[in-house]
Amino acid sequence: MDKFVIHGGKKLTGTVKISGAKNSVLALMPACLLNSGKNIIYNTPEVNDVYTMIKLLNFLGVESDFSNSKLLLDTSQIKSQIAPYEHVKKMRASIYVLGPLLSRFGYAKVSMPGGCAWGPRPVNLHLEAMKKLGADIKLEEGYIIAKSHKLTGNKIHFDISSVGATGNALMAAVLAKGTTVITNAAIEPEITLLAESLKKMGARISGIGSSILEIEGVEELRPAEFENISDRIEAGTMLVAGAITHSKIAIDYNFSHHIEIIIDKLKESGANLLINNGIIELDATNSMINSVDVTTAVYPGFPTDMQAQWIAYMSLSNGTATVVDNIYYDRFTHVPELIRLGADIEMHNNSAIVKGVKKLKGAKVMSTDLRASASLVLAGLAAEGETEILRVYHIDRGYQKIEEKLRALGADIIRVSTKEY
Ligand code: EPZ
Repeated sequence: MDKFVIHGGKKLTGTVKISGAKNSVLALMPACLLNSGKNIIYNTPEVNDVYTMIKLLNFLGVESDFSNSKLLLDTSQIKSQIAPYEHVKKMRASIYVLGPLLSRFGYAKVSMPGGCAWGPRPVNLHLEAMKKLGADIKLEEGYIIAKSHKLTGNKIHFDISSVGATGNALMAAVLAKGTTVITNAAIEPEITLLAESLKKMGARISGIGSSILEIEGVEELRPAEFENISDRIEAGTMLVAGAITHSKIAIDYNFSHHIEIIIDKLKESGANLLINNGIIELDATNSMINSVDVTTAVYPGFPTDMQAQWIAYMSLSNGTATVVDNIYYDRFTHVPELIRLGADIEMHNNSAIVKGVKKLKGAKVMSTDLRASASLVLAGLAAEGETEILRVYHIDRGYQKIEEKLRALGADIIRVSTKEY
């Protein structure tokens, strides 16, 4: 078990390169199950969720080789269409193998991710989409059992916009017979990359980047090479690290159009930002932190995956900010931990009322999930004294060597192995 030990109050300086996006590659990797051959995904982040997905794909018979952000996936010897509980329980995104396995093999047996299909973190939208394409879906002993001789194109409408369900529906429809139209499709950059990558495999998709996707089924898809986008949430997290410590830093990140809302909100909070060809410079050396309200929404709205980081930032603002999460009403496990660092936050349902305080004081705190951990790191960078963050395995799921990146910017942060839990 590892913990981070941070001595806060240090100014940051320099440029940090943002790694490949986790959430795009967690869809793109299973998408390779749709073809048979050697696929390569460049700019793949070395984060634990990627290794978890590699292990699941290996279990299905995919050969893999992963080094220096280059991931090779050979899908020519698939031997199973069963994704067992031991694998799926570690990561909800494992559900992404459902669409491709069903589409290519006509059969998939996938363990339910945490909770049940209709419970917390449901997958009902995924299952309804498969049914719309003609699949027979049964839920037995914690498993989703999906069968279909040949999927048939159909209209699929999502009552709520869902990144994962859109991804699964897309991957199921590309080999279905006939035309599928998906309405209210998610338009997150991760879905756009998935659709563009499926086209590179030979899929026929129109409306990419919009909420109406039209797919003409084809007989088979071919392996290809893909360039992953860089991680918009890591980019936002690093920019907040610069802002919360009143620093002047830059991020090497070529997708500023994916984080416009975050850039706008940071400017509103008083930071100066400059974008020039692939580098985003942030200067918060002289600025106060103005309190700025945020309500999370689907893309291009403020991402729920940045909600925790924004609360940490606003805890040192010169006023009171309201942060509302409309995507996940209960995604606030970081709040009690931030309060241990001296933050003044009151919860009302899915709204956090964050009253800025003059300073945070270092303490021992505990990570509870990926983005909550990031918010604790940000608060620790700004807090006076020493902050210890336990259970950093959560943060390793989605950030590639975050402590090394921050240390390179001048932060006093080290990773220590510990028996504490
Ligand atoms: C993706 O999760 C991301 N994960 C999440 O990032 C992100 O928070 C989320 O999208 C929202 O942007 C990956 O891409 C691997 P959804 P996903 O389906 O696809 C409800 C991180 O920190 N819903 O868009 O699971 C759901 O409960 C992770 O990197 C249903 O009701 O999210 C939520 O309220 C955390 N039924 C809303 O839709 C369903 O069948 C949006 O969820 C599916 C979802």
